[in-house]
Amino acid sequence: MNRKIEVTASLEVIPLGLLTESESKLIHKAKEILESAHAPYSKFLVGAAVLLENGEIFVANNQENVSFPVGICAERAVLSYVMGNFPNLKPLKIAIAARRLNEKAYAYVTPCGMCRQTINEYEVKFGDKIEILMLNGQEEVLKADGIEQLLPFRFHNLHL
Ligand code: THU
Repeated sequence: MNRKIEVTASLEVIPLGLLTESESKLIHKAKEILESAHAPYSKFLVGAAVLLENGEIFVANNQENVSFPVGICAERAVLSYVMGNFPNLKPLKIAIAARRLNEKAYAYVTPCGMCRQTINEYEVKFGDKIEILMLNGQEEVLKADGIEQLLPFRFHNLHL
């Protein structure tokens, strides 16, 4: 019989009120910036906030294009900016929040496959995990302790 490899992925489900101060601030920043997203096609507004090891927070949102594949997700927009400008500062956490244009309530959101691979890239670059906080509707946050929880069997050359 063939050998089987199985992995278990886990996310912590945290009520908003039980987040640490730093996590709560990061989610708040992601919520704030999603309101300036350019998402006239999908009408799905996404915000992402990154906490760097020096304590600074940077934010960005999704920027869509009439030629759909040209658009970029919030996570890659913010990571490209911070890693381009502060290539030696380790990103510790990334928070993501989303809302549909015509709904008041926040939506469930997790990073797409390309963004997962991008987060993986910077984990590998710094040899450390990046915590991912995903707003899960109104009241909860899903927390992954690193990209392995969202991208099992990921491609990388270094062992984390
Ligand atoms: N999007 C993000 O910006 N981040 C995610 O985590 C999920 C998807 C964007 C891409 C597109 O502009 C819109 O949301 C709908 O997929």
